[in-house]
Formats: sequence, structure tokens, C-alpha cells
Amino acid sequence: MRLMKNIKEQLLHTSRACKEMQSINAKFITLEGSEGAGKSTALSTITAQLDAWQVPYIVTREPGGEANAEQIRSLLLHSDHLAAKTELLLMFAARNEHVVKVIRPALAAGTWVVSDRFVDASYAYQGLGRGLDWKTIEFLEELVVGGTKPDLTLLLEVDPQTGLNRAADRSQKDRIEQEDAAFFENICRGYQLRAKAEPNRIKSINANLSIAEVKQQIIAQMDGFKELLLS
Ligand code: TMP
Repeated sequence: MRLMKNIKEQLLHTSRACKEMQSINAKFITLEGSEGAGKSTALSTITAQLDAWQVPYIVTREPGGEANAEQIRSLLLHSDHLAAKTELLLMFAARNEHVVKVIRPALAAGTWVVSDRFVDASYAYQGLGRGLDWKTIEFLEELVVGGTKPDLTLLLEVDPQTGLNRAADRSQKDRIEQEDAAFFENICRGYQLRAKAEPNRIKSINANLSIAEVKQQIIAQMDGFKELLLS
């Protein structure tokens, strides 16, 4: 009898929390990490949480997430060679299509957005990886992203060599994945700089651990984010 009462109370509590979440403005969540950090598993953990909260959402990615941006993605990942500045400009060209045609309309319609990578990747890959000027990236961010900043970013931090070992199992590597270990070490440093600069938004996840432990950390960060929204 008491068990039934507890279950009933639990259900009531959950349904109240879901209603409260649905009344909150749609949020923008991004996922970041270097090669082999385990983004696919992390993505499904994030969406499982959103399902539990019963909020409407879309899952998208960068570069890409929109028809023109996907064409730019092909160019970015499969061209023989691209000058570093061309790479940066193409990332932001794709991002502009994505922000204008997908992200802003979804948020305006009350749909949450989960993006597999966003602007932090440009600081890590083009900034630290390619050695391009941080200020130029800030200028492009202001131009293209403006106020459409993520509310929460989960950063999967993996030891560069562990990540590269995991990624080595993949059959076909794209142009960026073919870079050397030093490049990926710089990318990890780039992400760390971003996380240090914006600790309230960027939450670091230790992605060297087992899949179950990584999932647990993501769920804890999502729960913390939810509490913040409801407070
Ligand atoms: P993915 O492997 O996560 O699909 O991403 C494609 C590649 O694009 C990945 O190597 C990271 C890279 N990238 C950048 O270099 N700069 C960016 O701004 C973004 C969004 C991705």
C-alpha cells in the first residue's frame, strides 16, 4: 500500500516537473570534444534526458545541419587541401546557414536544439589547431552567432592519445581526422581554454572513463542544468 503511494507521489512529482520544464523557453545545448571522445553515446544520453523531461527538441550538427551547410561540410571534410583561413571561413559560412535557417527558427518555435559541435569547435580546431588569430574568430562569432549562444555545453575531455587510439579503429578518416597527434593536443588545450573562460556554460566531462561513468556524469550535469532552470 505504502509502495503504491510512493509510486503515485513520484509520478505526480515527475509530471509536475515535466510541465514546469515545458513552460521554460527552449534551450540550446551543444556537445563538444576532440576525436574519439565518444560524442555519439553522449548524444543519446542527452536526448534520453530530454525525452524524460518531455520537451520538444531537434538534434543537429556542425559543420552541417542544413542543406547548404551539409554541402559545405563535404567540401570541408573531403577536399584534398584547404588553406587554414578558407577552412575557418567555410566553417562560419556553414554556421550562418545553420543558425539562420535551423537553430533560430527552432528556438523561436519553442523547440530545444541539441547540436553536435558549434562555435567552440572553431576556437579549438581553427584557433589552437590551425593557429589562426583568436580575435578573428571572435569577430566571426559576433557576426554569425550573435546572441544565439548555447545555454549549456557539455565538453567531453579525453586524453588526446586515448582519443586517437579509439578513432584509429574507424575505417575511413576525413581530412581533419588525418592530422597528427600534436594537432589534437592543441585542440584539447583550445577546448580547455574555452571551458576556463566560461565555466558556467561549459561543463567538462571526463571522457577517459567507461561509457557507464561518462553517461552518469552527463546525467548529473543535465540534472544540474534542469535545477538551475527551475530555480
Ligand atoms: P564531426 O567529426 O564531429 O562530425 O566533425 C567534423 C569535423 O569538423 C571534426 O574534425 C571537427 C571539425 N570542426 C572544425 O574544425 N571546426 C568547427 O567549427 C566545427 C564545427 C567542426
